Amino acid sequence: MSANATSHPQFDTKVLKVDPNSISFSPSLHISDDETQESLTQAASVIKNSQTVAFPTETVYGLGGSALDTLSVKAIYAAKNRPADNPLIAHVASLDQLKRKLYPHDIPDIYLPLIEKFWPGPLTILLPVPEDSKISPACTVGQSTFAVRMPSHPVARALIALSDEPLAAPSANASTRPSPTRASHVFNDLNGRIPIILDGGPCDVGVESSVVDGLSDPPMLLRPGGISLEQLRQFGGPEWQDVVLAKPFVAENEVARTPGMKYKHYSPTSPVVLTKPNTPSQKLLDFVSSKVKATPEMSVGVLSTRHFVNDGIVDEIQKLLVNGQVHHRSLGTIGSDISHNLFAYLRDFDIMGLDLIVVEGIDISDEGLAVMNRLEKAATTLI
Ligand code: TXA
Ligand code: MG
Repeated sequence: MSANATSHPQFDTKVLKVDPNSISFSPSLHISDDETQESLTQAASVIKNSQTVAFPTETVYGLGGSALDTLSVKAIYAAKNRPADNPLIAHVASLDQLKRKLYPHDIPDIYLPLIEKFWPGPLTILLPVPEDSKISPACTVGQSTFAVRMPSHPVARALIALSDEPLAAPSANASTRPSPTRASHVFNDLNGRIPIILDGGPCDVGVESSVVDGLSDPPMLLRPGGISLEQLRQFGGPEWQDVVLAKPFVAENEVARTPGMKYKHYSPTSPVVLTKPNTPSQKLLDFVSSKVKATPEMSVGVLSTRHFVNDGIVDEIQKLLVNGQVHHRSLGTIGSDISHNLFAYLRDFDIMGLDLIVVEGIDISDEGLAVMNRLEKAATTLI
């Protein structure tokens, strides 16, 4: 149980079932399942009362409150214990809602091919905060831009449509923890701190949206995520050929392009060792062996991807542990499976209180860039 779950419960957190397959949008929002309808109606009324709701998106679970209501936005920061200078993404259900509620101007041309291809979906863009904007200053925290995306998950879209508000929503983890991809992850982190969790099953993508800044020249990928660098280049048109990847970390004295870069993230409690794809396996085995000398009965979790099993690395680690134990799980071999399983398996191993978690890294093409970005932040040692 996380520290948050035990500290001063304010709410009797309810986990309400929702069935994404019972929700349809054309010609207008229709919910065929009564339980789903009831859960979403309760959730929308909580949002209207300036409180927060955790809900599934196609990337990770979000913790939502109205982006136009400072009380809601402050409740989000408080529940997560999030640093107050890290701005939130606003989530909209349609381009029409974006125009009516957040951005009455034409969207800059550079974004149009990406919006056409990837919305609704795991892509977040930055837009200039308009004059007379109604977006809560607690959501933008003094930036001249705000971040916005249109999620594709039916539950997310239905909740935004029913509350008729754009929803500010960070990932629904306690700050510094891995993002939640199941309702149970949210419950573990935020039980007692939020009124409602909508349980719509596991998230599909498993890592957060890609955050892009098309207002800078050249355009930048601030956070790699559900849309890859290759996809931005392939579908973004000529200007996105030159897209630059922001550094995943910033030094103390540097200004972060995206405030989230400054903070510790995705951290299981157990130490995490990450191997780079071309590291000779002996280096890892030497590292594990040095740890075993200090703690002969240690238990080690191994998350393999493409080669550890065939190369016999899992067995080699087991041999090193004279009195200890190896717990092995495969994250998958294809990028989409590895992304999908990443945070869930890190959390599963974390609950077991292992002495060490070893993760087999992958190359940074396609989904690999987002996966390695998260793993490098989770890792205590990189080999
Ligand atoms: O997939 C996602 O994006 C999930 C789901 C719930 O939609 N949300 C999410 O939000 O990951 P959060 O708050 O955990 O991450 C938002 C990131 C942070 O790194 C934040 O610093 C950055 O977006 N961000 C927000 N507004 C920004 C802005 N105006 N300029 C630069 N970066 C911004
Ligand atoms: Mg987050």
